[in-house]
Amino acid sequence: SYCTAIVLAAGSGKRMGTTTHKQYLLMGGHPVLFYSLRTFQESEFIDEIILVTGKDEQEYCRKEIVDQYGFTKVSRIVEGGAERFNSVWNGLQVIKRKGYVYIHDGARPFIDEGIIERAYECVCKSDACIAGMPVKDTIKIVNERQRVESTPDRATLWAIQTPQVFLADLLLKAYGKLMKQNWIQVTDDAMVVEKMLNHEVQVFTGKYENIKITTPEDLVIAEAFLGK
Ligand code: CTP
Ligand code: MG
Repeated sequence: SYCTAIVLAAGSGKRMGTTTHKQYLLMGGHPVLFYSLRTFQESEFIDEIILVTGKDEQEYCRKEIVDQYGFTKVSRIVEGGAERFNSVWNGLQVIKRKGYVYIHDGARPFIDEGIIERAYECVCKSDACIAGMPVKDTIKIVNERQRVESTPDRATLWAIQTPQVFLADLLLKAYGKLMKQNWIQVTDDAMVVEKMLNHEVQVFTGKYENIKITTPEDLVIAEAFLGK
């Protein structure tokens, strides 16, 4: 089945705090965004890549990333929106052929072919699948006054990553419904499918290395992963 990867790179990286948005910072001599695009470019499961970037970053992405590295599967570079879900929506608008869609954070450079393959096997059976790993820390629900309210059983808790992979029609339907509302507490794509369609979502095994570059110390960890 035809697979499109939508790679998100339109955020402004507030938590990183650098003037250059984090997805374009150099890591091992290449922009963070380069790594996930290379993995999708080389993947036997991916037919086409849609890159979503900021308005002022489109030319840079075209010249310095897509052309420079020869990422021929990138068919479109589209402008993102104010929130992550707006960027996903903009990417979904230009999908050429339905089938399956992989939504991936451009700030997660360590996606690999194994993850893409597990996602494919999972989505063929379940229509809505997300990468995740069991959490290592104990997680507590804490209130505004920093008092612990409860401690969910760690054995049931997973840290969710991307890619998040869906039957394109299903995700389009869920996002179409979302865009008619003004609910904005959306932090991942699966939530949209869960809340808008009440559809089951399956978790497959991601990788502990598949971190999202979010704060400055993540770059130190990332350099260590690159070095090994
Ligand atoms: N993203 C996007 N469009 C947005 C917001 C985020 O395409 N309006 C992308 C980011 O570029 C990133 C991914 O979604 O690849 C995950 O988002 P996050 O880690 O939150 O990145 P930022 O929003 O850029 O960072 P912050 O929340 O710290 O500002
Ligand atoms: Mg963000």
